[in-house]
Amino acid sequence: MKKYEDLSVFYEGVLDYKAYYFEYTNLEDALGMKKNKSAHFIDLNGEWDFKLFDFPEQANLETNFDSKITVPGMWQTQGYGSLHYTDEGFPFNLNFPLTPAKNPTGLYRTSFKVEDVNAKQVLCFEGIDNYAEVYLNGEYLGFTKSSRQLYEFDISGKVQVDNQLIVKVVQFSDQTYFEDQDMWWASGIFRDVYVKSYSDINADYTLKTTKRQNVWTLEIVADLCETVTIYDKSNSEQVVTRLGNTLTCPTVEAWNPEAPEYYKVIIQNNEMFIPFLVGFRQITIENNLMHLNGKYFKMHGVNRHDLNGRNCRAVSVADIETDLKLMKECNINAIRTAHYPNQPEFYNLCLKYGFMVMSETDLEVHGFAYTSDFNFVANDPNSTLSFLNRTAGHIEVCKNFSAIVMWSMGNESGYGDNFKQAIKLTKELDDTRLVHYEEDSLLENVDVASSMYTRVAMMDLFGKYPAPKPRVICEYGHAMGLGPGGIKEYQQVFDKYASIQGHFIWEWKDHGIIAENGDIKYGGDFGDYPNNSNFCLDGLVDTNNVPTSGYYEYQNVISPIKVMIDNGRITLHSRIYFTSMENYKLAIEVLDANRKVLFEKTVTATKDFDYQVDLDYAVLNVNVVNEAGVVVGKFQEKLQNFNVKPLAVVSSDYVLEQTSLEVIINKDNLQMKISKIDGQLIINNESQILIGDGRLNVSRPHIDNHKMETVEIFNHYHLNHFQTKVLDTEVLETSSTLMIKQNIVTGPPVYDFKIDYVRTIVFKDGAIYFDYDYRPNSNVVSVLPRIGVDFNLSKRLGEIEYDGFGPFENYDDFCDHATYGTYQTDVNSYFKPHSCPQDGGNHLVSNFNISDDCIAINISGSDLNIKCSKYTNASIDAAKHVSELQEDEYLHLEVNDKVHGLGSNSWGSEVLESYVNYTKPSTFGFKLDIEVNHENN
Ligand code: GAL
Ligand code: MG
Repeated sequence: MKKYEDLSVFYEGVLDYKAYYFEYTNLEDALGMKKNKSAHFIDLNGEWDFKLFDFPEQANLETNFDSKITVPGMWQTQGYGSLHYTDEGFPFNLNFPLTPAKNPTGLYRTSFKVEDVNAKQVLCFEGIDNYAEVYLNGEYLGFTKSSRQLYEFDISGKVQVDNQLIVKVVQFSDQTYFEDQDMWWASGIFRDVYVKSYSDINADYTLKTTKRQNVWTLEIVADLCETVTIYDKSNSEQVVTRLGNTLTCPTVEAWNPEAPEYYKVIIQNNEMFIPFLVGFRQITIENNLMHLNGKYFKMHGVNRHDLNGRNCRAVSVADIETDLKLMKECNINAIRTAHYPNQPEFYNLCLKYGFMVMSETDLEVHGFAYTSDFNFVANDPNSTLSFLNRTAGHIEVCKNFSAIVMWSMGNESGYGDNFKQAIKLTKELDDTRLVHYEEDSLLENVDVASSMYTRVAMMDLFGKYPAPKPRVICEYGHAMGLGPGGIKEYQQVFDKYASIQGHFIWEWKDHGIIAENGDIKYGGDFGDYPNNSNFCLDGLVDTNNVPTSGYYEYQNVISPIKVMIDNGRITLHSRIYFTSMENYKLAIEVLDANRKVLFEKTVTATKDFDYQVDLDYAVLNVNVVNEAGVVVGKFQEKLQNFNVKPLAVVSSDYVLEQTSLEVIINKDNLQMKISKIDGQLIINNESQILIGDGRLNVSRPHIDNHKMETVEIFNHYHLNHFQTKVLDTEVLETSSTLMIKQNIVTGPPVYDFKIDYVRTIVFKDGAIYFDYDYRPNSNVVSVLPRIGVDFNLSKRLGEIEYDGFGPFENYDDFCDHATYGTYQTDVNSYFKPHSCPQDGGNHLVSNFNISDDCIAINISGSDLNIKCSKYTNASIDAAKHVSELQEDEYLHLEVNDKVHGLGSNSWGSEVLESYVNYTKPSTFGFKLDIEVNHENN
């Protein structure tokens, strides 16, 4: 039987799993903790010889290596083979545990020199996807087949001065069935490779921190532990008392995600220095609630995959640090390593930056959802070995990473005896952390109740009737494309119930691949079949690490302090668990309707904060500012819109003309034509079209979050193809006003679904007033994507200033991040395409001004949903990548009365009831001003 198809052997020739550590020959290097400074370290990263074959059977070690590859890396991103994206389904016929015939196989070769051939040394691979056979100087050392697992081969006595290393990597093995996470199928030696030495190759160390009678102790489980010294961040020695291998540490401070104090514990054995980064912390459950260091807390979390837009899952320490910095700024305090252990550096960075980690075992058999028994693998006795090895390997390597407070047994793999055994093993290996597995739904063995994508109403019930264990929601708020909408409502429920102690947004980052032209590639872009298309673009930050509007929404929703303002009364809700609210300031600003600051004050946040602003104001802003002076949350009470800044008044002398086709109004150098046939209007300035259309429409590009519910209905009823007919036109002229009133009907082809409306256009005091009174004739289409007026604008315009919610796109169920104010921007920033183009760019606005240096168009009203972009909705709908977006000769402006909410049901919550745009009659209107500055024109 082939080893890569044999469930009865998990590895061969490797050392037992043990803690991740390095030895150093001197204290200084030990304190520096750089692995390349460790004893006898030989870095094997770099350019290797390479050759890719279609079949493992072809990969002969004697081959002619005629190409090169970078290690660490994945071969599919380096011009060999190709990437394939599926969410659940295996990319080959499900024939467990056998592999497909076509099973790409890469031969890697490198050489290295060893100075001290007598040293005890190991060859270490931090991660190879998937099956790898290792040969040193022609001798077979063994194999591994668990991708996100560190493995070491003892090469003591096997090395020479000049060595040749060959690694045969096979893309698919029996273990592929256990690694069916929603991500790219990609392979290779994708984490660090090096040689290091151990004075005792089998020595292992387990470090545990416990608080006893208010004093921290550190217990070290090890066969040998000659001396131990603890240093703080500035390398000063800490006072400790040692009794056996237990150290009492009266001077250390506890670690927590808000004040992440950490220490370097240096064990000295055999004249070698062995450092560990340690946070003193203890996680317990008291009265069914999780506590860290005796304190109640909640995890405001995120799911993180490894992803670099060019290297796929080969991520550098710098990539990880970029993620963590952005997460910190997003107010996130917990990370689930969905769905596999990360490289060791990740965990120590989490300790330093301050993140509680739920570290997940590399175990997902989701593809078995396409069989009759999803629980088959979880119960399969032949798979027990894989379960136990994956569990043990994860825990042994990661056990000393103090940032980890919870183990997760895997993801989407059903439930059965193998999980029971794996949880039992976890408890045996580590009695200091909690155990999570979402599918132990009866809470038989886990410490924490969990579910995913549970709707708000159900979470509320879970809160009301708590389980006898603390609860988390390990995935929700699917951040695919535009959105996620409705997470504020989730947070209200999470805030309400003590038993709900963790929520993890799905997910941190889009898993896109950056193309040469800057487009973002996703499933299907590599000829991969079958694929799950752009389902991998579902992060709060895009493939280039640029935060999407969803990032800002989550940031504000989980602000460390939530500010509530009710008629000038300011009170606070704290999401600070370990430090003091008093580290935060509240910047209060009160504005009148002319944007004048009436009052400004910065005060310290306190537990019982209660502050009343007694002024007549339009807007009351309260920003939460952290110690570094960074605004971490923005809150507001808006009682009035700002007054519109007046444009230069033009004369109100109109000259009216009428034909059977249109009504024509001339006013200064502007001319407006209103069709009596199809309702189109055109405003010309010196025979250049400035504004066109002006008719009611419901068309809207799709968004990912509508795909499950409404897009099909919208498409079915051809809502993007409305046709308009004017029934009658009436012109009324008085001495001071001119009114054009039309009965119009609009609707899609095929169906008897119509919207009748009366459009009234009034010319008065130099301005033009639009009013729409609409009545759908039925609710055969019960929900409309939006309803509002379309305009085409001359492309000469593009500078935008608006009074409204900003600065990022916002919708009724997606506006916690947005505050009402005056914003200057331009059309390129107002609508920023998502990596997979879709609708976006809406802002709730009271006054919108678009201009160039001689013409300004101003639209004002109350609560208008205004979108403005360079692309037609049809172009946005058709484009699969940003470069495919086609501009035409206009800018496209929508002045909407209502826009259907976003929800997050690309994989999760439907649009909440109060944000559904039900088909029903209504009226709305706005004022249009046009200012022409003749001098510049
Ligand atoms: C979950 C799964 C994730 C991801 C997500 C959808 O069910 O755990 O890995 O697939 O759905 O993006
Ligand atoms: Mg899955």
